[in-house]
Amino acid sequence: MDHFLYRDGALFAEDVPVAEIAAAVGTPFYVYSTATLLRHFQLFDDALAGMDHLVCYAMKAASNQAILKTLAQAGAGMDVVSQGEYLRAKAAGVPGDKIVFSGVGKTAEEIRTALSGGIRQFNVESEPEMEVINAVALDLGVVAPITVRVNPDVDAKTHAKIATGKSENKFGIPIAKAREVYAHAATLKGLDVIGIDVHIGSQLTELEPFRLAYQKVAELTETLRADGHDIRRLDLGGGLGIPYTRSNEAPPLPVEYGQLIKDTLGHLNVEIEIEPGRLIAGNAGLMVSKVIYVKEGEGRDFLILDGAMNDLIRPAMYEAHHDIVPVVEPEPGLEPRPYDIVGPVCETGDTFAKARLMPPLSANDLVAFRSAGAYGAVMASEYNSRPLIPEVLVHGDQFAVIRRRPDFDEMINRDTIPEWL
Ligand code: LLP
Repeated sequence: MDHFLYRDGALFAEDVPVAEIAAAVGTPFYVYSTATLLRHFQLFDDALAGMDHLVCYAMKAASNQAILKTLAQAGAGMDVVSQGEYLRAKAAGVPGDKIVFSGVGKTAEEIRTALSGGIRQFNVESEPEMEVINAVALDLGVVAPITVRVNPDVDAKTHAKIATGKSENKFGIPIAKAREVYAHAATLKGLDVIGIDVHIGSQLTELEPFRLAYQKVAELTETLRADGHDIRRLDLGGGLGIPYTRSNEAPPLPVEYGQLIKDTLGHLNVEIEIEPGRLIAGNAGLMVSKVIYVKEGEGRDFLILDGAMNDLIRPAMYEAHHDIVPVVEPEPGLEPRPYDIVGPVCETGDTFAKARLMPPLSANDLVAFRSAGAYGAVMASEYNSRPLIPEVLVHGDQFAVIRRRPDFDEMINRDTIPEWL
């Protein structure tokens, strides 16, 4: 459920007409709903009620500080994967003891920054990384809390580019090697080995892969405890999928996911951490764009938008489907027609949808891409020298620009010309 609904023939973001935001900030832009962000966070938090837990929002999904602050004020921790994300979370007011640091390639500098500023734990992905965290911690005279990310060799049954839990993926250490790696970790004086981490992929639409992975983590917890390790926290990653279309069958709900966690891990008396990103932010955001031209092609018409693959890369990168809806609700009875919906970037891949049935549209009409809140703005680039598009946050009947559109000079003046030219 989200808070982008038609009212009196116009698409609203909560209580603000989307067209009003477009008039104020220009197109294209991203708009997020506070109520949807909070609702989705709350669903996870409630799903784990009765267990000691922390929902750490995977901020890679949408990392604007206004979004982070909204969630942090509701009690969320953060899952970060770079120094930039760590510093951004801190800047948004998230305390270090609610920030977990994931990612396969943490540098010594990143580790130092996090250990100095405060960190809940590092999710360690390899033995060389473990050695570096140990060395930095000893150098700083602190002890680094860590979990080890295990790769359970489970098929997440999702798009190959976002599956992470198979043995051929670059993530984590093979679960069969875990005892050896934990034994080694226990000898390193700069580390406090507190738990186990697992994340098998993103946009999972079934619970079964989670069940298989979490059962393996439960077994490993008991084995490692028997080996003498004080396993007291399990980080279960993110990955629960969202409905990208209104018609197809719905992925499992957070409450069902929470029940699965209780069923598989509830007996272990551990603290549970989860790292959802997409489910919190995905359906909390739209990308709004304007039709520049309707171009008649052979056998199909093209809707040429002012938004492009550099603003929303998911369709080009993962063949992802996003529902695209007109901002003015179509009159009932209007015969829909098929359009290829494209951006102005000079690549055939700059295609958002092919033969998409839409009500008849004309130049200057506004359209909204649904489910664009996660992995939308954060994956944007300035390809074709198109400045990053603004982000807007709605809260009830108010809206605020939370990242403004840079002017062309700002973008162009980042280049420096060597003196020999
Ligand atoms: N934790 C870890 C360690 C992760 O790698 C990820 C996502 C998450 C949590 C959050 O997963 P989520 O709940 O959002 O599924 N750009 C792709 C998705 C990449 C996901 C990367 N890792 C897309 O647009 O579909």
